[in-house]
Amino acid sequence: MNLLEFNDNPRIRRAIAQIENPKNIKVLFVCLGNICRSPAAEGLMRQSVIENGTENRWEIDSAGTGNYHIGELPDPRMRAHARRRGLELDHRCRQVSESDFYNFDLIIAMDSSNYANLRRIAPTAESQDKILQMAEFFDSCTNCDHVPDPYYDGADGFELVLDLLTAATRNLRDTVETNSLA
Ligand code: 4NP
Repeated sequence: MNLLEFNDNPRIRRAIAQIENPKNIKVLFVCLGNICRSPAAEGLMRQSVIENGTENRWEIDSAGTGNYHIGELPDPRMRAHARRRGLELDHRCRQVSESDFYNFDLIIAMDSSNYANLRRIAPTAESQDKILQMAEFFDSCTNCDHVPDPYYDGADGFELVLDLLTAATRNLRDTVETNSLA
């Protein structure tokens, strides 16, 4: 990983500069259904800050732009693939709301469609600057420009999502921790 490439991204810099309290960084991961990609990102991000011993600096949550699965646990296929990596996903699905744009510092979209929907519902220009795409934290060698929706895919799709998110959440953690602490 090359931290410089993330540090050089003006969109990432602008979002980090708006973090209210660097000792209490609030990040929300967002996909369409909130049963596959974003709960996996939430779980992997939590695992990655625990690995770093910095979990007390982070509040981590996830939500969906859609309302199809509210109250449900993550998709059983995603739970099974995550469990094989030592990760228990027990988030309960919820829909993103306007208040999230006030309550969170960073709002991370899994693909460009989630991103466009979030931009549309952001209540202020300032809150639009909080929205980034997960792909902005991919390693430069990654061949994807978004986190592909695995819902209609087989096992490989779920494994790919977990691989992409493992690297991207670590890069997000390192970039934010390095740049937000004075
Ligand atoms: P996710 O995947 O956005 O990664 O949670 C999906 C889950 C459910 C649906 C679409 C995507 N759905 O249409 O029900």
